[in-house]
Amino acid sequence: MSSSSRTETLQEEVARRRTFAIISHPDAGKTTLTEKLLLYGGAIQEAGAVKARRASRHATSDWLEIEKQRGISVSSSVMQFEYSDHIVNLLDTPGHEDFSEDTYRVLTAVDAAVMVIDAAKGVEAQTIKLLEVCRLRNTPIITFVNKFDREVRGPLEILQEIEETLQIDCAPVSWPVGMGKSFRGVYDLQSDQLLRFRGGEEKRAHDEEVIAGLDNARLDELFPDEVETLREEVELIREASEPFDLELFRAGMQTPVFFGSGINNFGVQEVLNALLQWAPRPQPRSTGEREVLPDEAPLTGFVFKIQANMDPKHRDRIAFFRVCSGRYQPGIKLKHLRLGREMRIANAQTFLANSRKASEEAFAGDILGIHNHGQLQIGDTLTEGEQLSYRGIPHFAPELFCRARPADPLKAKQLNKGLKELGEEGAVQVFTDGMGRKLLGAVGRLQFDIVAHRLKGEYNVEASYEPAEIHTARWLSFPDEDTRKAFMQREEASVSEDVDGNPVYLAPSRYKLQITQERFPDVGFHATREHGEVLQPE
Ligand code: G4P
Repeated sequence: MSSSSRTETLQEEVARRRTFAIISHPDAGKTTLTEKLLLYGGAIQEAGAVKARRASRHATSDWLEIEKQRGISVSSSVMQFEYSDHIVNLLDTPGHEDFSEDTYRVLTAVDAAVMVIDAAKGVEAQTIKLLEVCRLRNTPIITFVNKFDREVRGPLEILQEIEETLQIDCAPVSWPVGMGKSFRGVYDLQSDQLLRFRGGEEKRAHDEEVIAGLDNARLDELFPDEVETLREEVELIREASEPFDLELFRAGMQTPVFFGSGINNFGVQEVLNALLQWAPRPQPRSTGEREVLPDEAPLTGFVFKIQANMDPKHRDRIAFFRVCSGRYQPGIKLKHLRLGREMRIANAQTFLANSRKASEEAFAGDILGIHNHGQLQIGDTLTEGEQLSYRGIPHFAPELFCRARPADPLKAKQLNKGLKELGEEGAVQVFTDGMGRKLLGAVGRLQFDIVAHRLKGEYNVEASYEPAEIHTARWLSFPDEDTRKAFMQREEASVSEDVDGNPVYLAPSRYKLQITQERFPDVGFHATREHGEVLQPE
């Protein structure tokens, strides 16, 4: 192949890729929507597969069972499928009791997100947190307001809540007609037609009745009771709301809003089409050195998640690697920038809906699973030789804290070693206070379970874990040495160090955080920190 046709192929491959995640609060309908999308992509053949897996995960609290389930969840962490000549990479954001820092990090590896809102409950806590993470990179968001086959809140009220709570402009692209038992369908504001809803049977593509135009007599015939309200509302919403604007969407400032019912597969295809048409192809990415374009020929990318092997006899781990440029082919030689070492990658995996296979080729936007024995950490960059380090894969301020104490005091050294390594790997955050005591921080409780299990299995340390009364953590940066000294004089007891030696303020309460920030207005209090970054004075 000539180099110009190779460049062309690379550009085409990048152009047809979409990499996204679904964000939602538990029970809003993420699993249901995932499943319907996979059905469209032909990645699964029947409904129920994803759900059944989740149900079994819920039914268990025994650790070994969880571990087995997590083994399964390795293959469902990323789901690649083909749809309408596109390669779609859907990244799972672990929720429920799997919620962890991984959930946040996954969002650093996507180019767009679909936000699912339960129309009865509105904007919920976890959605707010996940959206904040999306905002770090201005990730474009498509909104799906779900469950209109139930008695839910009015669409206007929901839009208002999204705008106010999440500080993002809404551009409704469809409008629901009725709800619950009298849910009649959604009116597509762009193509000016009604997609008729008939509850009961599950539908696939294109078999819903479509009624063109608001003044269509068919509407009067079918919905004599609702048609006037529909006409009024559509007129009102067209006047009152901002029209969809692709640029604002791509900048993460405006979200197109769809209404529907995931379980009935109603309104789902519209979301998928929006993903293909509006969501961006893999985007240029920043490194500490320069911006890398997705269609540059050399392969580059970064690790955003590590999954320990489910089999404790094998200490290997799978690193989830987001390709940012170039082309992967088996046998490729890559440079591991942090270790300054070469790695030959022979058998990277591609994840499908319920399985994985040896990857033959991958391009920007794709996710590869790379087996390794601990050389790869979250945030690591691999390239074909160029000195680059990808940015934007931060640590997030933990919200749960506990202290670990070894059952056998003679094992303190092993405990510290294990915690250091697990901290560096990104499984949990580890802080050390002035007296050398270790504090573990996480954003989800499961992270502590995993650490306890791995310390026992891999480092042979049994420990007790006591909750610590800490509200949250903030990484500190000081404008000058005098301010640092003044701060430490007053707050030393609340300051610890992270694995890279950065000072961290551990706030006992929201109130205390606030007054400390007010007392030291020149000190930087950061809710995130880049991997490996040592904070410089501002
Ligand atoms: P999650 O992954 O975000 O946690 O949500 P999931 O899809 O599992 O959906 C949570 C519950 O909401 C499920 O009910 C699911 O069936 C229901 N649901 C999802 N979409 C819709 C919808 O469009 N309309 C209605 N009425 N319900 C919907 P469940 O009772 O927890 O589980 P199941 O008994 O249905 O399996």
